[in-house]
Parts: sequence; structure tokens; C-alpha cells
Amino acid sequence: MKKIKVGIVGGTKGMGHWFAGLLKKEGCIVHVSGRKTKLQINDLARLSDVIVVAVPISATADVIRQVGPLLSTDQLLMDLTSLKKEPVKLMLANSRAEVIGCHPLFGPQLKDASGQNVILCPARGKKWLGWLKGVFKKNKLIVLESASGKHDKMMAIVQALNHLNTISLGMALAQTNITLAEINKFSTPIFRTKLDIIRKVFTESPELYVDIITRNPETGKMLDIYEKALKDIRGKIKTGGQEKSQKAVKKAAEKLF
Ligand SMILES: NC(=O)c1ccc[n+]([C@@H]2O[C@H](COP(=O)([O-])OP(=O)(O)OC[C@H]3O[C@@H](n4cnc5c(N)ncnc54)[C@H](OP(=O)(O)O)[C@@H]3O)[C@@H](O)[C@H]2O)c1
Repeated sequence: MKKIKVGIVGGTKGMGHWFAGLLKKEGCIVHVSGRKTKLQINDLARLSDVIVVAVPISATADVIRQVGPLLSTDQLLMDLTSLKKEPVKLMLANSRAEVIGCHPLFGPQLKDASGQNVILCPARGKKWLGWLKGVFKKNKLIVLESASGKHDKMMAIVQALNHLNTISLGMALAQTNITLAEINKFSTPIFRTKLDIIRKVFTESPELYVDIITRNPETGKMLDIYEKALKDIRGKIKTGGQEKSQKAVKKAAEKLF
């Protein structure tokens, strides 16, 4: 059978590099490009059946505008961006190719991605969807198809709200002016787990987390909810002390679990 040729723009590291490894394992011929590679975007478009955009969120729109017009109706244009509405809209508007938005819900550091979620937003054509789903399913990833708008709404909770919480906790810790070495002497297992998350967000790729928060159109709503929750619990601690606070926590627990 003819080998599928895939070109990954942003495949030299990060998520694009992870995807290159997966596709090579599945027998695809994979070409990658970065800003300094010999192969560039136009080479990938010429050499590949499938083009994957896996560059930082801030560079995604430009790369789609560059590569999209070079593709034909037989090719697939897909991306790995953490947000989906805008990239999918741009891929449709700037190409005649089949289009699938894709968001693996984990980072490239993960050694074994089996059991992890991946969201697909099929947007144009049917020829490539079965192949892509097959690659993920064969590797035991859990594939969910979603509209791009719904994906971004859910990411406002799972990523924007979640990382906002981590970032505010990290900033509050920094404002205590007590060193981590000193705090750690008094630390609990839950605190150390949270600190590991704060360290990851603040030191591994802070640009990515900030982009995920600031570029999601639903972030404003999440900030309102978050601020209100903080204000509510603060008010209850101030006016009702233990009893009111416990009631509020119990009510939220009943709703959630
Ligand atoms: N990291 C995650 O946890 C994660 C998870 C899911 C989805 N994603 C998504 O995956 C995408 C990439 O994120 P990442 O974390 O993998 O980023 P990354 O580690 O910084 O890698 C970015 C890649 O894009 C290339 N690149 C950067 N700017 C470029 C440009 N202007 N033109 C062409 N290539 C360029 C880089 O190569 P050079 O530096 O060599 O140019 C590199 O290969 C983002 O859309 C992100 O939302 C990331």
C-alpha cells in the first residue's frame, strides 16, 4: 500500500515532534519544518498528502495563511492548536483542502499517551477522517468529535480557568515573600502536588499557558465566575465563619460529585 506522506510545520519539537513520532510508527513518511530547517512550508506542501500545523498559537494564523493556498482538494490540512474555533475557520477560509481541527489533550512530555483524550473537529471532507481516527484509536487514545466552538467553551474550563487558578496561586505565593525552601519545610503532600503544577506552568512553557488563557474568547466569563467564587467564600468566612463556609462547600460538592 502507498505510504502516506505527512508534513508537520513545527515538527522539530514539542507537540509536532510527538505527532511525527506517532505517525512514523504507523508507517507514514514524515517531513518536518521549523523556522531554520532546510525544508520550508512550500516544500512540505509539495511533498505531503497531509499538512499539520503545530506551531505556537501566536504563529498559527500566519502559517495557515501561508500554507493553505498551496494545497489541493485531495490533501488534508489539520492543526494541533490548543484552541479550535479560529484555526478551523482560518483553515477553511484559506484552503480548498479537507480540514480537520485536532487537539491532543496532553503535552509532548508524556511517554505513553494511551488512554488520553484527543478532540477532533472535522470541518471539510470525509476522505481523511477515518485514517486520522484510526491512527489515534490504534494507539489507544480516546477520540471525541466536537464542534470547534464547543471545544473552546470546554477549554475555557479545563484549561483557562484551571491555569488561571494555578497562576493566581503562584503569584499569591510569590507575594508572601517567604522562600519556597522555608515553606517546603512545613509542606503537606497536597501542597507539594500543587507546587509541582505551579512549577510546570511557570517554568516549562509559560507562553503557551498565557496564550491558552488570553486567546480563548470565553476567558472573560471564567474570570467573572472565578472572582465571584472567591468573593462569595470570602464573604462567608467574614460574616458567617465556619458554618456558612461549610454549607457553601457542601452545596458545591453536591452539585459536582
Ligand atoms: N505543549 C503542549 O502541552 C501542547 C498540548 C496540546 C497542543 N499544543 C499545541 O501545539 C502547538 C505547538 O505548541 P508546542 O508546545 O509544541 O510548541 P513548541 O514546543 O514551542 O514547538 C513549536 C514548533 O513550531 C516551530 N515554530 C515556531 N515558530 C514558527 C514559525 N513562525 N514558523 C514555523 N515554525 C515555527 C518550532 O521550531 P523552531 O523553533 O525550530 O522554529 C517548533 O518546531 C500549539 O498550537 C499548542 O497550542 C501544545
